[in-house]
Amino acid sequence: MTYLGVDYYPEHWPEEMMGEDLQGIKDMGANIIRIGEFAWHLMEKEEGAFDFSYFDHVIEKAKQHGLDVMFGTPTATFPAWLAQKHPSILSENENGNKRVFGGRRQYCFNSDKYRQYAAGITKQLVQHYKDEEAIVSWQIDNEFGHEGSDMCYCDQCYAAFHQYLENKYDSVGQLNDEWGTIFWGQTYNDFSEIPIPKPTVTTHNPTLKLEWARFRSSSVNGFTHEMTAIVNEHKGSHQTVTTNVSGGFFDKWFDHEENVKPMDFVSYDNYPVWGGLEKPIPPEAIAMTHDFNRGLLDQNYWIVEELMGAQGHDVIGYLPRPNQAKMWSYQAFAHGCSNMLYFRWRGMTKGAEQFCYGVVDHDNVYGRKYKEVQSLFNEIKEHEELLNAEINSDVAVLYDYDNIWSWRSQIQSKDFDFNAELLRLYRPFYRKNTNIDVIPATRDLSTYKVVLVPVMQLMDDTLASRLRTFADEGGTVIFSYRAGLKGRDNNIRLGEVLPGPVRELIGARVEEIESLTAAHQLELQGEGSFAEVPAHISVWRDLLVPEQAETLYSYQDQFYKGYAAVTKNSFGKGSVYYVGGGLSEEALEKIAADVTNDCGIDTIESERDVEVYRRHIGGDSYLFLMNHSDKEKSYGMEKLGPFESRIVKG
Ligand code: GLA
Ligand code: ZN
Repeated sequence: MTYLGVDYYPEHWPEEMMGEDLQGIKDMGANIIRIGEFAWHLMEKEEGAFDFSYFDHVIEKAKQHGLDVMFGTPTATFPAWLAQKHPSILSENENGNKRVFGGRRQYCFNSDKYRQYAAGITKQLVQHYKDEEAIVSWQIDNEFGHEGSDMCYCDQCYAAFHQYLENKYDSVGQLNDEWGTIFWGQTYNDFSEIPIPKPTVTTHNPTLKLEWARFRSSSVNGFTHEMTAIVNEHKGSHQTVTTNVSGGFFDKWFDHEENVKPMDFVSYDNYPVWGGLEKPIPPEAIAMTHDFNRGLLDQNYWIVEELMGAQGHDVIGYLPRPNQAKMWSYQAFAHGCSNMLYFRWRGMTKGAEQFCYGVVDHDNVYGRKYKEVQSLFNEIKEHEELLNAEINSDVAVLYDYDNIWSWRSQIQSKDFDFNAELLRLYRPFYRKNTNIDVIPATRDLSTYKVVLVPVMQLMDDTLASRLRTFADEGGTVIFSYRAGLKGRDNNIRLGEVLPGPVRELIGARVEEIESLTAAHQLELQGEGSFAEVPAHISVWRDLLVPEQAETLYSYQDQFYKGYAAVTKNSFGKGSVYYVGGGLSEEALEKIAADVTNDCGIDTIESERDVEVYRRHIGGDSYLFLMNHSDKEKSYGMEKLGPFESRIVKG
C-alpha cells in the first residue's frame, strides 16, 4: 500500500477538534498520520511517570478514521524538568556558552545523562506500542544535526574527543607526526593537551579539524544508533524504523550513510524553499537531494515532511504558487519517493512555528492547498507499483564526508561551496533527463557508465585505483578541480606532482594553481569541437600541462596562455575528463552531450525547466513530467501549464 498522509500534532489543538481534523485528513485521501515527535513532556510529565494515555486516545481515534500511524520518538525536545535537574545535558557553543532550554535539539550527544533519559522514554514508548497494529513505523528523533545541533564544545565532548583520539592513535608521538604538530611548535606530550578547535588566534591544525569533524560524526551517529537499537529491540515485527533527513546534508557534521545504516528506510524532509528565500532552490538542486536520499540505503525512500505552505520560524519568504508544491511532489515520486506525508496538517497558532504554514491555515478553511494535496493523493495512489519500481542509473556522482570536511576546514577560495561544486557537474546530466545516483565514493562503480568526481581533494590510493579500474574497463570519469591533493590525514603529499594518485589517469599535471572568486571569470579558448562553445572559469583554477591528454579548453590571460583548463584523456578502454576549475554551464553541457552520446546513455531532450524522468515497470516505460516554470511549456505532444506535472505512459 502507498502511504499518503500528513504530519499531525493533535496535542496542539483543543480535544474537540480532533474528530473533525481526522475526518478532514481522511477526506483528503490520506491513510496515515505522523504523530508524537516533540511530545516527550506529554508522555513523562515528571521523571519516571510515563503516561501514554493521551496518545492511546489519539491512536484509537485515528483507527476509527481508518488512519495508520508513524510515531516519532520525542528525543529532539526534552522536558524542562530534565534540563533543570541535569543541566549537563545541554550542549555548548564554540564560545563556551551553554545553550539554554528553549528551541529544540539543544542536547549534547555525549551526555551520559541525556542518553540515559532518552533511552528511557524511547524504550517505554516503544514497549507500550509494540503490539499496536495501527503504528506501522517509528521515526527516531527529528532531523539529526539540523539547525546547528550537530556541534557541541562542552567538557563531555572534550573528554570523549580525547578518548576517540587515544583509541585511534597508537601514541601521541604518532599523532604528532601525522598531524604535523611540529608546525607552530604545537607538539603534544600527552593526549590531554590536545584542544578541541574552539576559536583561537587565526586557525587550527587541519588534521585536528578533520578529526574533530569525524568525532562529531561518531557522536551523532553513536546516539542515533543507540536509540535505533532500542527501537529495533522492542518494536513489533510489523513496525519499521526510520529517521527523517533534513536538507543541507552536505553542511552537516555527520556521515549520513552511516547514520541511517540500522534503519529500514530513509525518510526525507523536502523543502525546496524555506525561511526568507525570495525563490525556491533550482530544480536540479531539489532533484539532487532526492538522488542523495535514495542513495543512502540504495533503495526508495519516504518523504515525511513535504512542503505545501510557506515555511519559516521568524522569517518567511516565497509562497509556493498553485500546483508548484504538487509538482515538487511528482518530482519526489519520480526520483524514488515511495510514500509521502505533507508537513503539516494545520499551521500552529502558538509557539515558534506560527509561520510554518500547513495544508490548512489558521482559519481552518479547507482551501487551495487542501484541494491540491487531495488531487495529488488521488492521482498518485494509482501508481503504487511504479513508485516502488527500482531506479537504475548510468551516471553516479561520488561524495565523501572526509573530503567535504577537509574543504570546510580550509575552503581555499572564499567562494568555494561544496554543494555548488557538486551541482556544477550534476546539472548538465540532470538537464539531459538521465537518471543519476548521488552516492558515497566507497560504493561499487561497476554498474555505471559515467562517474562524476566533484572536487575530491582528499583522495586515498584505494579510490584512485578503483577509478583507474573503472576507466580502464571502459568507464568515463569526470573529475573537477583539486583532485588528489591530500591524503586521508588531510595533509598534502610531499614530492608528488598533482593530481597525485590520479595523474596518469587524467593524463595531465597541475603546474600551478590559483584561487579565484565567483566574480573573477576568466575567458577560455575552446579547441576542436569546443572551439565554438564559449566558456569561462571562476572560483578556482588548476593550470594544467597535458601529458597524454588532449586540451579541450586553455587559458587566455597574460602569463598563462597555453596552460590547459579542461582536458580529456583516453585511458584503457575509457575516457577521463578533468575540469580544472569552476567551468561555466555551456561548456559542461557540451561535455555531458559528448559523454552521454559516446556512452550510449538514455537521455531525453526537453525545454529548459521541463524535467522528464523515465521509470520502468517490466517492459513498460513511464515518464514523470514536471514543469518547474510559471510559463506554458510542452514536451512532445504534452502541454504543461505553469507548474503542471503528471505521469504519462511511453
Ligand atoms: C523541519 C522540522 C519540522 C518543522 C519544519 C518546519 O523540517 O523537521 O519539525 O520544524 O522544519 O518547516
Ligand atoms: Zn557536548
